[in-house]
Amino acid sequence: MGPQIIVVDLGGQYTRLIARKIRELGVRSVVLSAEAAGEVLASCKPKGIILSGGWASVYDADAPDVSESILTADIPVLGVCLGMQWLAKKLGGGVESYASQREYGVYEFVRMVAMDPLLRDIPEKSLVRLSHGDSVTVLPAGAYRSGMTQNCGIASFTIPDKQIFGVQFHPECADTDYGLQILKNFLEICGVLQDWSPECLVTQIRSEVLAAVPKGAKLIHLFSGGVDSTVIAKLLEPVFQDRLVCAFIDTGSLREGEFMEVRRNAVAAGCSLHYFEAKQKFISAMNDIIDGEARRIAFQEVYRSKMGEFKDIFKTPYVTQGTIATDLIETGQEGDAALIKTHHNVGVDSMNPLRSLFKDEVRDLARFLGLPDFVSERMPFPGPGLFVRIIGIPVTEETLGIVRWADARTREIIRASGIEHDISQLVVALIGVPTTGVKGDARSVGYSIVVRGVQSVDFMTARGYEIPSHVRRSLVRTLTCHSQIVRVWFDEGDKPCATIELM
Ligand code: XMP
Repeated sequence: MGPQIIVVDLGGQYTRLIARKIRELGVRSVVLSAEAAGEVLASCKPKGIILSGGWASVYDADAPDVSESILTADIPVLGVCLGMQWLAKKLGGGVESYASQREYGVYEFVRMVAMDPLLRDIPEKSLVRLSHGDSVTVLPAGAYRSGMTQNCGIASFTIPDKQIFGVQFHPECADTDYGLQILKNFLEICGVLQDWSPECLVTQIRSEVLAAVPKGAKLIHLFSGGVDSTVIAKLLEPVFQDRLVCAFIDTGSLREGEFMEVRRNAVAAGCSLHYFEAKQKFISAMNDIIDGEARRIAFQEVYRSKMGEFKDIFKTPYVTQGTIATDLIETGQEGDAALIKTHHNVGVDSMNPLRSLFKDEVRDLARFLGLPDFVSERMPFPGPGLFVRIIGIPVTEETLGIVRWADARTREIIRASGIEHDISQLVVALIGVPTTGVKGDARSVGYSIVVRGVQSVDFMTARGYEIPSHVRRSLVRTLTCHSQIVRVWFDEGDKPCATIELM
């Protein structure tokens, strides 16, 4: 049986997330480009179509355009954000851009039609994630308005005769309170069957990698100790056994005590670890680079060359990595998604068995495989590590030392205050712009530390975490004891519009 739901990618950051949520509801779905969707529709009859959001305006000359055949195929269609606007425009409605209607964040949504099939079982008022400049201002033919927000008069509509639905908000995002219920309602409207499970996923990943590596050949797995690469090691160890080489690269950008954790996670995955020291190579590649994207690219070059060395050492061209869907999307490698950040592990010659999964799916898989909590719940840490946490000044042993020290003290305080589990990711960064302070009755010019906690499920969106004031006081007191730190800033911005890392 083919995929039951086609998610048409109109260039959104969250397109894969829609497919991921559909899988979470036990249903197979596939993401297709706008061009491919029309063709596929002709050959396989899915049970429903979801049009994603996207960066464009429907009036842009280069906006992705979907074949109008989806509107006449007699299949339920749900348009999300740009997808909703595309439906409205094609079906005789109006879309406009009013500064007063723009919404970027979490807003209250008011359901206006209790009997609407898409909004069934959601309360009259709930919170939704919006990220839009344009809005539907005139309903398409045959539609009724089913919901609104304070700034957006038509936040959802339904065309009952055609089973066509539009929502301006993102039901796929974790901070839309009833997003999963809305997608579930849509699946019910489509009449799908359950056809997706973790067992399926494990079998699929193992067979895919086994098929790619000839019998007797070694497989190098780049192991960082994070949940993603640990899950792959745990998945592949039983089938590859001593043909699996788990390689760990010490890039010089690790946090205090990190290698101990990496070793512990390798033991949990049942694999033996090969340690490769490359600190100087990576640190000198950072040179005097200040720009975050340029640092990521320099990091990636060394990483790629290390991978080449491993292939020579272990005499095999086969490599796996823990790259997940978020990394591919943010690097602009999925459909029409825009480049947000180049992730070091994307675009290098390797297999990425977790490429269609999001962090929460990988965590589910970790639990399913019986990995301990310290693996399945581990906070993410970027591959380029502390290199992307030094802002505005060069990466040197000295600046790395300051941020590493600040990070370790911050984590100790956060852990001791019992709020660690309320935070999905903790970012501690060094701001290199000198500001003035006074220490011991004398003028003291020094750096600042930014402490940023976020709450997130999939790391595609995040809510800034408000660190309690007594913990902030303790952080300020401790961190400013360092001779080169005069200030501590707390960053509570959501993603969007701020990304999780500062650069
Ligand atoms: P942003 O900052 O883009 O981060 O909101 C989303 C998630 O990805 C992590 N991240 C990276 N991980 N290589 C990685 O392996 C990278 O270059 C990279 N940049 C960001 C980030 O820590 C967060 O969990």
